[in-house]
Amino acid sequence: MIHGHVTAWALALILFIVALILQSGGKTKGAKIVQMILRVLYLVIIATGVGLLFMLTKISVMYILKAVVGLWIIGLFEMILGRAMNKRRTSVFWIQFVIAWALVLYLGFVELPMSIFHVK
Ligand code: HEM
Repeated sequence: MIHGHVTAWALALILFIVALILQSGGKTKGAKIVQMILRVLYLVIIATGVGLLFMLTKISVMYILKAVVGLWIIGLFEMILGRAMNKRRTSVFWIQFVIAWALVLYLGFVELPMSIFHVK
């Protein structure tokens, strides 16, 4: 489950960058296709994330925070791509993006116990 989760968001991050590159190169159609694949990945990220939550015997506030920040990142993927496609400013969202990623990586890898490095 956790491997699926990590694979899904890592792939999503790569596709997000690919979509931005395509968009900035004027390849709007390609960017739209990648964005659609990205949306399917959001569902995989959420499904595996919720699956991980169901594996817990006791849920703590840190897990809730982790889930909320995860959803925040998905929202930012959408906002940044959508605004880039409409040639609107994205700087405020990029600042949030950096903060949210720092938080999610800290919570996921440092603070919370499950890990791709020792849980099957
Ligand atoms: C793009 C969005 C997301 C990112 C980048 C992300 C990132 C991560 C990372 C880095 C880990 C730790 C993996 C490890 O320790 O090996 C993790 C674990 C986890 N994630 Fe996410 N996540 C996202 C979305 C979500 C969502 C939407 C949920 C819940 C609905 C969620 C729930 C969880 C849970 C429960 C864990 C296990 C925590 C632990 O004990 O380490 N994640 N995620």
